[in-house]
Amino acid sequence: MKKRIGVLLSGRGSNFEALAESVAAGRIPNAEIAVVISNREGAPGIQRAESRGIKTRVIPSKGLEREVYDRQVAAVLDEHKADLICLAGYMRLLSPFFVAKFPNRILNIHPSLLPSFPGLESQRQALEYGVKFAGCTVHFVDENLDAGPIVIQAVVAVEDQDTEESLSARILKEEHRVYSQAVKIVLEEKYKMVGRRVLLTN
Ligand code: GRF
Repeated sequence: MKKRIGVLLSGRGSNFEALAESVAAGRIPNAEIAVVISNREGAPGIQRAESRGIKTRVIPSKGLEREVYDRQVAAVLDEHKADLICLAGYMRLLSPFFVAKFPNRILNIHPSLLPSFPGLESQRQALEYGVKFAGCTVHFVDENLDAGPIVIQAVVAVEDQDTEESLSARILKEEHRVYSQAVKIVLEEKYKMVGRRVLLTN
């Protein structure tokens, strides 16, 4: 049986697209993207999913209390029998209800070397701070912002001439690469958790 991935996004959807490419190319074997859910109408990621023939659902979040909203999302994920949930530019914190419902089954990609620079505009934060190395992190999701156990990180050197755009573009390339790797590891259960540490097994 193929493992079923549910993707949550709010915008552009390039990380979703990278996951879809990896599934199609067999880099994430025995898996399929069961549904793509957006909390924003008109999210380009939804169009990208539709043009790939992947099921989509827009569930507007505006004005809804966090858990009320998350229960609607969870119902759609259940309906599509999602084994793993991948946040891909999903601009919402998850409720404790949602996190408890899918233990160690929610991943996120963040464009910094966490725990540095959580939150928005991480690449700009990194440049302004003056770090010499930036990067990205795939981590399990808990109810705190960009905070759960780390599965994979990739390092990107900051160059003197970098702008927010140029650095973001190099980080994004690494995001697309490592997110698929992390999804494969988690779907194949090739890891064990020791405290906060995610140790890879064979
Ligand atoms: C990415 O930089 C991701 O790390 C962050 O939001 C951005 C989403 O980009 N969480 P995209 O929608 O996947 O293109």
